[in-house]
Amino acid sequence: MGDWVEIFEMGPRDGLQNEKREIPVAEKVALVDCLSRAGFRRIEVASFVSPKWVPQMAGSAEVLAGITRAEGVRYAALTPNMRGYEDALAARADEIAVFASASEGFSKANINATIEESIARFEPILEAARHIDLPVRGYVSCVTDCPYDGAVAPEKVAEVADRLFSLGCYEISLGDTIGQATPDKIARMLLAVRERVPVSRLAGHYHDTAGRALANIDASLALGVRVFDAAVGGLGGCPYAPGAAGNVATEAVAAHLERLGYQTGLDMDVIAEAAEMARAMRTG
Ligand code: HMG
Ligand code: MG
Repeated sequence: MGDWVEIFEMGPRDGLQNEKREIPVAEKVALVDCLSRAGFRRIEVASFVSPKWVPQMAGSAEVLAGITRAEGVRYAALTPNMRGYEDALAARADEIAVFASASEGFSKANINATIEESIARFEPILEAARHIDLPVRGYVSCVTDCPYDGAVAPEKVAEVADRLFSLGCYEISLGDTIGQATPDKIARMLLAVRERVPVSRLAGHYHDTAGRALANIDASLALGVRVFDAAVGGLGGCPYAPGAAGNVATEAVAAHLERLGYQTGLDMDVIAEAAEMARAMRTG
């Protein structure tokens, strides 16, 4: 039996947040309900951000209210501030995520805050979540390249990852937000981050803009990473990262991992069904 690798499904959140068409809540619920049969343990389904900034995520509370929750699956939501935290709690998200950047340019463009200000916003969220045992994940965006500032130093990524981990995030997801990383850059970044955060608490979140996400996953596997974020149908992109393509496709990552001998616990037929559904949602 091969090693276990977990895929954290991002489709309903990172996948859909950038779609131009206003996708009805019922379609999102149907996608999540399909994904709930695939064997994921975690699915990101919602984002409690300003609807002025990301209109596509405005129905997040309705999505969480409408889905049929499967046993053993945690349904996650993004929360940029205390307002988002309260809304995520009211909507019964099973876990939440705060999101920071390793580059100032993207931090400002994405959440209108410096890195330092964003961490100050996350502190009360982590404090409140700790009191009720709510798991909080932490994202670090632009782990190798920023669409505004260019190349990002591995030490900066390590510093931000360490801050989030020290505040209580149970896992740090490292985002190649614009999909410009190479296996070498990913390896240099991970070697620096691993010095500060145990590798068992790291995840790779790679967008596939340049078609290198699978190679970047291979580089990460070699350094001990065993959790990867992906979106069915390869949907997605960030509205504040010009040129960012979708997350690497779940079906491609799952097939790749199986070829390498890893176990994912996923049902490939259900994944294919969800990927088809996701692609249809894009065109409406
Ligand atoms: P701001 O404009 O600086 O904040 O935005 P504000 O406090 O002045 O609020 C502006 C308005 O938003 C106000 O409404 C607030 O009430 C409202 P108004 O008075 O104008 O009517 N507001 C909210 N509404 C709903 N929920 C909230 C909330 N907070 C304020 N939680 C803010 C700051 C952080 C809110 C904004 O910049 C924002 O929402 N940004 C989110 C951007 C985003 O979602 N980006 C995509 C997700 S990150 C990503 O995709 C990367 C990732 O995948 C990893 C990777 O790939 O690297 C995770
Ligand atoms: Mg992303």
